[in-house]
Amino acid sequence: LSKSSQIVSGLALITFKLFLQALEDGLKKADADPSVKAVMICGENGKFSAGADIRGFSSPKRHGVALSPIVSLIESSEKPVVAAIEGVALGGGLEVALGCHYRVAHAKARMGLPEVTIGLLPGAEGTQRLPRLIGVPAALDMITTGKHIPATEALKLGLVDEIVEENTIEAAIRLANKVIGQPLEPRRLSLKPVPKLPNMEAFLREALVKVKRQARGCLAPELCVQAVRAATERPFAEGVRRERELFGLLLSSGQAQALQYAFFAERAVRRWAAPGGASWSSAAPQPVRKAAVIGLGTMGRGIVTSLVKANIPVVALEQDLEYLNKGRKAVMLLLEREAMKMEGGAQTLDFHNPARLQFTVDFDLLCDVDLVIEAVFENMALKKEIFHKLSKICKPGALLCTNTSALNIDEIASATNRPQQVIGTHFFSPAHVMRLLEIIYGRHTSPTAIATAMQLAKALKKVGVVVGNCFGFVGNRMMFPYVQQAVFLLEEGSRPEAVDQVLEDFGFKIGPFRMSDLAGLDVGWRSRKEQGLTGPSLAAGTPARQRHGQRYSPLPDLLCEQGRFGQKTGKGWYQYERAGGRTATPDPWLHDFLSQYRDTHGIQSRFIDQEEILERCLFSLINEGFAILAEGIASGPEHLDVIYINGYGWPKHRGGPMFYASTVGLPRVLAKLQKYSEAHPDVPGLRPNAFLKKLVAVRSPPLKEWMSYLSHQSPKL
Ligand code: NAI
Repeated sequence: LSKSSQIVSGLALITFKLFLQALEDGLKKADADPSVKAVMICGENGKFSAGADIRGFSSPKRHGVALSPIVSLIESSEKPVVAAIEGVALGGGLEVALGCHYRVAHAKARMGLPEVTIGLLPGAEGTQRLPRLIGVPAALDMITTGKHIPATEALKLGLVDEIVEENTIEAAIRLANKVIGQPLEPRRLSLKPVPKLPNMEAFLREALVKVKRQARGCLAPELCVQAVRAATERPFAEGVRRERELFGLLLSSGQAQALQYAFFAERAVRRWAAPGGASWSSAAPQPVRKAAVIGLGTMGRGIVTSLVKANIPVVALEQDLEYLNKGRKAVMLLLEREAMKMEGGAQTLDFHNPARLQFTVDFDLLCDVDLVIEAVFENMALKKEIFHKLSKICKPGALLCTNTSALNIDEIASATNRPQQVIGTHFFSPAHVMRLLEIIYGRHTSPTAIATAMQLAKALKKVGVVVGNCFGFVGNRMMFPYVQQAVFLLEEGSRPEAVDQVLEDFGFKIGPFRMSDLAGLDVGWRSRKEQGLTGPSLAAGTPARQRHGQRYSPLPDLLCEQGRFGQKTGKGWYQYERAGGRTATPDPWLHDFLSQYRDTHGIQSRFIDQEEILERCLFSLINEGFAILAEGIASGPEHLDVIYINGYGWPKHRGGPMFYASTVGLPRVLAKLQKYSEAHPDVPGLRPNAFLKKLVAVRSPPLKEWMSYLSHQSPKL
């Protein structure tokens, strides 16, 4: 393009390796050609560059460091190089732009260094150039969070020199022509000092403490801080060496692989499949123009908020006016808080408009909705009554969803005249925050219903995971043996705070006892009473610590009998400052209670080390995961992992329980389960699952091949 510029384009289309070569060739050609006075780098199809394909990142040979020499080559060019940033400049793409002497961006462009989100750091000198350009605080913020910033913010920070409303390429060429002949030295970021802060040391120390606290064992944010620290303390070349070293550490830590696995797993689960051959590729969703939510308790409130945020008009229904008013107040409060976080505020959400959000106790108002989400008490008889009513009132095409945490979808569907339109949509608490939506198909659920629920998840900005119908579905079913082990550990000699600590150190957001106090111990108690495991329906003479020939711990029931429901009553596995308080402190009462309990039942208390706590809790959860896979309740281990990361606070940098099992090694998981099972033969959760045994017998194939070892044995797929 004209004699003064050389276009190097196509960043988005060609593979990374080819792109690097093309960029290098183009630059060298431009340098050697005396008729070229300046160089402009742009992308094709309105995108500068979204960075390298992350599939290549896990392999040390192909990682981003290969880009460094090109960035240096750009920077050292004797002719001015201008980046024309349209669309996105992310990761390696932004590092290329940082090598340029000038940057012009389109007003709608976004920039960022998202490497940290996949367990890495910007490995092409980005951690060294960015602080030199925009200062340490802003650079640290971008590098440790991976956030994308809009062009307007980039201009304020000095990341770009100019923003334009249109024709970025022409503007970049104009700028290139203007600066021909001007000295380039001051534009070479590697030669610039990092802007000083009066309190740099304290600032960096605080930044490290902050990211460590948030990262819960994830290394990348911490190493990003170290790389930026190197930029402040060392000359450029040495800083680059440090960046490379830290990049290598991240690559070999295993966390980058886990995070990249999690990234692809989330995409993989969008391609759902159900029995009978129905799948994402053949089923089309129905439009959801209006929805209803029944029950405005803990879950219903969040679900309504989520729908309103997604611009779906909602009818919110309660059983009587008293509950309705309580629910309305709670929903309005949530929406007001959400609106404050949004640009445009309450006006954008428009939730005071009855056409967008209507509260009622009248079921007849549900006659024209496209989808209903039921979130009433966890009681089969009540749910069936409601679904029976719905199938009479709702229009024929309406989808009927239940938010049940564990109940049988087929039984609920049997109360309707349209079981093909009944489906489980299991939200997680708080429903307007948690990303997971577990979608459960029943025996008769139609592919259209599944596709519509998946589409709903997308509209709500959630991750939908399609699974089969069984007690507790996938997430809660795997949680049962995990929580059961945690309680058994208390019986045998441990304490809630010790068990929680081990699992929180592993990376869980909260341990099982803090979680149970938060959710309310009464929830499980009610369910156990319904199942006849405790309470008045328990047959006289049932041994205290045994049900159906298996070990059972009455500890949670005993706590509930004492009115200890957790945070809501100010006492549970911990004590709290008051009812509704959130600060858990170990409770001496509970410690005494545990000792007495052990004495009553003749249990010899013993010291339980961290390894046993971790393995018994996690391996029993993983063991249940293998059972779920073998039964065809989920189509692959990725589904289980996405559910755990997004719904249960499993640390993402450990890739999910099934990925974690593959990194620990299946033979080790099996051996440990065998050992614990021998010590506790009355605990079925510790008995190694046949599918796990089979995988070990065929020499533990990689996770993505596991399902091929099931094929004919899976009844549901
Ligand atoms: P909740 O007890 O907080 O609220 C239930 C609401 O349903 C109450 O406001 C009640 O007035 C209303 N309700 C009862 N009968 C009704 C009727 N006939 N018509 C209209 N409204 C009626 O219960 P929560 O915790 O919100 O649970 C709701 C459902 O979600 C349950 O099935 C539960 O298992 C499930 N769930 C709960 C989670 C949690 O963390 N609390 C998580 C995921 C699912």
